Amino acid sequence: MRITIVGCGDVGMALARHWQQQGGVELALTTTREERRAPLARLAERVLVLRADDRDALAAALADADVAVFTLAPSGDQAVDAPTYAATYRDSFASLVELLPQLPQLRQIVYTASCAVYGDAGGDWVDESTTPEPRDDHGQVLLESERLLQGCRTAERAVCLLRLGAIHGPGRQLLTRFRRLAGTIRPGDGGSHCSWIHRDDVVGAIAAAVADRWDGIVNVVDDEPLTVADLLHRVCTAAGWEPVRWDAGQPREQPPADRRIRNDRLRSLGYRLRHPRLQLPALRRLDTSLFDRVAERASQSPRLRQNHNLHAEPDPVQRFLNVLQPGTYVRPHRHRRERPGAGFECFVVLQGAVGLLLLDDRGEVIHQERLAAGGPVHGIDLAEDQLHTLVALEPDTVMLEIKEGPYRPASDKDFLATCPAEGTAEAVSLEACWRARFTED
Ligand SMILES: NC(=O)c1ccc[n+]([C@@H]2O[C@H](COP(=O)([O-])OP(=O)(O)OC[C@H]3O[C@@H](n4cnc5c(N)ncnc54)[C@H](OP(=O)(O)O)[C@@H]3O)[C@@H](O)[C@H]2O)c1
Repeated sequence: MRITIVGCGDVGMALARHWQQQGGVELALTTTREERRAPLARLAERVLVLRADDRDALAAALADADVAVFTLAPSGDQAVDAPTYAATYRDSFASLVELLPQLPQLRQIVYTASCAVYGDAGGDWVDESTTPEPRDDHGQVLLESERLLQGCRTAERAVCLLRLGAIHGPGRQLLTRFRRLAGTIRPGDGGSHCSWIHRDDVVGAIAAAVADRWDGIVNVVDDEPLTVADLLHRVCTAAGWEPVRWDAGQPREQPPADRRIRNDRLRSLGYRLRHPRLQLPALRRLDTSLFDRVAERASQSPRLRQNHNLHAEPDPVQRFLNVLQPGTYVRPHRHRRERPGAGFECFVVLQGAVGLLLLDDRGEVIHQERLAAGGPVHGIDLAEDQLHTLVALEPDTVMLEIKEGPYRPASDKDFLATCPAEGTAEAVSLEACWRARFTED
């Protein structure tokens, strides 16, 4: 089979690699830039440098093609506005329409269209039978472009429009794309829905469309439309960033289009998604930017320390960062639990240094230990019932603490009643005394 990919950018190249590996396809690829000729030449029999609105050049690219796949898009940093869209899509398809009488062998046209043509559906589900109602000029241009292609269909020639959701995958990582939104306040409530598709599934769907000669419109989106708020929450959680907050009172020019796209037709055509939903890494990174943020809050807190929980309150294991600033007073206490031995506590110093003091029942220091990120002692595993306190020996000291959960504020700590309560003058001088024990060493 002879196939020409017109506009061989990111998706086009991934598709060309797929067909190259699979074999049995004679490929021609196009680019608008001479400098891309060499990299594309490794993937195909022929490379042509052209704009698809140049009718003669397009005729040469499609002269003996059985299938034309249009994966073109405005290049690089071109403005995404209606005139640019018209020059890229509409003018190219108008050229194609004029050429068709010269291309009797062309038995299928496939185009990677966009779900943007659906416009706003107020959060409702839309499918291929829904009348498109673009809500802006460039959506209107996309719809006009689709209609030009629809007019190319004959009994011998299939025309398949794959309406894609937003593409993610290699080179389009969500964590990179949304980094700048972490910790910001956005207008609205983030309740509008968006649909995504992995680049591998764009390639898979195009390849299936050609192999099985699909005709008509097919939505190519994954199974799970997400609200923007949910998406950004997942991204920020996965990356360990500050969450995005929403302010419904903040004015906004135009709320985003809200629609949920069905992919039933894609499934009924037998296509099995390789990525049926967004797979964000299920982890939280304990990195210096997190340390900095919590340390900032610790500096501003009257207690001069701040916890950052990694666990949820009912979890059976409490895992949290405790960030301490010099001067913080930790009232001596011990942990007791119903189950013998479960009142242990494990500390590891990840940044800075702390002085750990073990006390007897009268509040006398029986042992002291310097724990530091730089060692030689990095952490400690403390047994149940052992009275203890801590002082911060360096600014922005970060400890990872592990204790049995769930956290029950009333019974988590058994304080040594003879030691002063937090916030008292006695506490301030006692903390200074304890800290001095380490600086005098
Ligand atoms: N990104 C999304 O989330 C999304 C959503 C819906 C649909 N889509 C569609 O998905 C398809 C693939 O996108 P992509 O990410 O692979 O795009 P891309 O990497 O930007 O590649 C676009 C290709 O089109 C070429 N091109 C630009 N103007 C052209 C013109 N007038 N005539 C012929 N070729 C032209 C570019 O030429 P150069 O090689 O010179 O750069 C490039 O090869 C596009 O059709 C896009 O509209 C994308």
